[in-house]
Amino acid sequence: MQHLFQVDPAGDTPLHRQVYEGLRSAILSGRLKSGDRLPATRALAGQLALSRSTIADAYEQLQAEGYILGRHGSGTYVAPDLPHNGLQPESRGYASSTAAPGLSRWGRRIATPEFSALLRPREEVWYPYDFRPHRIAQDEFPWDAWRSSVERALTSDRSRLFTYPPAAGHPDLRRAIAEHVAGYRAVSCTPNQIVIVNGTQQGLNLLVQLLLESGDRVAVEDPGYPAARLSFESRSLAISPVAVDHDGMIVSRLADLGPHRMVHVTPSHQDPTGATLSLPRRLALLEIAARHGMLVVEDDYDSEFRYEGRPVESLQGLDRNGLVVYAGTFSKSVLAGLRIGFLVVPDALSEPIVDAKALWDSGAPILEQAALAQFMLSGQYERHIRRMRRLYRIRRDALLGALADEFGERATVGERHGGINLLVTLDLALTEEEIVRRAASEGIGLRGASRYFRTPPAGPTFLLGFAQPDPATIRDGIRRLRRLVDDRSVARG
Ligand SMILES: Cc1ncc(COP(=O)(O)O)c(C=O)c1O
Repeated sequence: MQHLFQVDPAGDTPLHRQVYEGLRSAILSGRLKSGDRLPATRALAGQLALSRSTIADAYEQLQAEGYILGRHGSGTYVAPDLPHNGLQPESRGYASSTAAPGLSRWGRRIATPEFSALLRPREEVWYPYDFRPHRIAQDEFPWDAWRSSVERALTSDRSRLFTYPPAAGHPDLRRAIAEHVAGYRAVSCTPNQIVIVNGTQQGLNLLVQLLLESGDRVAVEDPGYPAARLSFESRSLAISPVAVDHDGMIVSRLADLGPHRMVHVTPSHQDPTGATLSLPRRLALLEIAARHGMLVVEDDYDSEFRYEGRPVESLQGLDRNGLVVYAGTFSKSVLAGLRIGFLVVPDALSEPIVDAKALWDSGAPILEQAALAQFMLSGQYERHIRRMRRLYRIRRDALLGALADEFGERATVGERHGGINLLVTLDLALTEEEIVRRAASEGIGLRGASRYFRTPPAGPTFLLGFAQPDPATIRDGIRRLRRLVDDRSVARG
């Protein structure tokens, strides 16, 4: 037996487990064959210089799993009926399997390098100067208030943890959201129209699944949110990119392109330009929707943070035909790791969307929902948003000031009245990738914005997040960035 496997008495793995794994591997690889006789426990213990009970433990486990059989009085054998071609040479599980299962058409699509590059940039890298977009102020998060919300949820909702959650979401959270969006965004709805989802991303995927057939025409903003476009692309839909200017999507272009089944828009704060969709365009969009029965997905991902001017009423509040789905998220206003967002759907969709959610994942985790409901109903949520709005305004001003001081005319900054990112184009003879790479090596986190554009912008363009770093870090980071790009050894040509 020693030639079949070895044990390491000094190793971390318990000895009985090593014997079990050694024999199992010998059987799976065919080195021990069906019907082969194993040594008696005493004999193997002697060969391996182990105790007999160690060998007996290993045999017992192998027998329980069906690899070996003990025949009373005549010893222990490798089970007779193991299918020969089910055995794999030295297999250690799925990771080493060479025969990957065939992917569906959808699977093949999302496995392409283009999708992977966009879906997997969520690297856990820490940068001392972090300007990556969509990141909130970690240093100012109200942990005490959040902790007491979680504790209250553990008491009030303990019994809910024993059963599957309601697929539409926690009733208290739906109620709190309905009140919040009515007050803040003039969304008109009842709690019954609210479905809790695992972030906007899931909401969008559910709508695509529920409402669209492959080949259907859908429209997106250009530049626009890459993840929305990918949801559509993954389902083989015909996508019309519609240009954006300082008033948001140029809706007349959408009209020129003919009927579409769905359009994804970010009217409060266009992602990435920051533009607000003007009222005439909002009305024109609703008119097109009514004419063609087109569903408008109003993605209101960061409208809590508006620093100048009054927020424009939501499209949903203007809609009279039940053709707008309002999508909200807590990824910016509370924590992205919660994965909680919501859809406000027209009455006609409220049952099918809940069924779709139930089929997808049997409902969102209840403890997080209960804690968030406590956070909202206790008034902490509004307090937190008000504080962050003041804080982010100061940080935005710090970034604008630093860009002006360091880059002057060489930095073109997009709309700046809200959100937590600024779209910035630098007039430099360096590519976006070179700047991102060089910056990363100096501890500056940047994200290039070309992924948002169908036709890449003229110069290197970045979506700079300003909510996470404090003002001193912002100024220092932008100064370092300017030195880095002005360094002759780095500059191209
Ligand atoms: C346009 C847009 N929608 C939605 C989200 C948030 O998505 P989720 O709720 O899935 O975190 C973001 C944030 O990155 C965004 O930019």
